[in-house]
Amino acid sequence: MKQVKIYAHRGASAYAPENTLPAFQAAMEQGADGIELDVHLSRDGELVVIHDEELDRTTNGTGLVKDHTLAELKKLCADNGMSGYGDVRIPTLQEVLELVKPSGMLVNIELKTGILWYEGIEKKTLDLVEKLGMKNRTVYSSFNHYSIAEVQRLAPKAETAYLFGDIPCDVEKYAAAHNVKGLHPGLYNVKMGNLLQVYLDSGLAVRVWTVNGEEDLHWLMKEGADVITNDPRLALAVRDRLADE
Ligand code: G3P
Ligand code: MG
Repeated sequence: MKQVKIYAHRGASAYAPENTLPAFQAAMEQGADGIELDVHLSRDGELVVIHDEELDRTTNGTGLVKDHTLAELKKLCADNGMSGYGDVRIPTLQEVLELVKPSGMLVNIELKTGILWYEGIEKKTLDLVEKLGMKNRTVYSSFNHYSIAEVQRLAPKAETAYLFGDIPCDVEKYAAAHNVKGLHPGLYNVKMGNLLQVYLDSGLAVRVWTVNGEEDLHWLMKEGADVITNDPRLALAVRDRLADE
């Protein structure tokens, strides 16, 4: 039986500031199979890794990421109020990919185009992944499914997934019809809609976010779903336990 995969959500964000190099380093050290990260474009068109469109929650900056140049973004502290991580900056996508590349980890790049449509972000991201030789271990997801269509248009062989936080009808059929190989449903909706088996039966990769509780981790991995979690250490312990059950 294939082993389910554990992705560190925004890095091991239960342990270090989300979407920063220490969080991705922690994910590697803990032994996660992969990382999930969020990508935006700076004013000067650089790919930067941060969750929100706005700087205010996770940095000491204010305003929109897209209104700042990379040089301006790099002046900000991105420790998200977590002390002990030193000089933590917003990383570029290249910095994150170069950090995890030697580990062989899988990468889920979430294109954050669900609110702002960053023109050209798909091509820039694909080009970078290609340049770094990480095509075969990267999956692209987005709440904006036109972004996924654009990834497919530019790179028909790229692995893609539909991200959704609501409960679309027949999402597995819709994904398959668009040659999308993965479903990334929110945990709450999988539980409330009792839809896990439907998704798994489709044969598509199922990666549920954001799964942090021990019981949920146990249930999902036992059923055969991959998980995207803030706490890869806990998920790994649960997966080890499952192997002995
Ligand atoms: O990619 C899974 C998850 O990260 C989607 O939601 O808001 O945490 O980026 P969000
Ligand atoms: Mg995300």
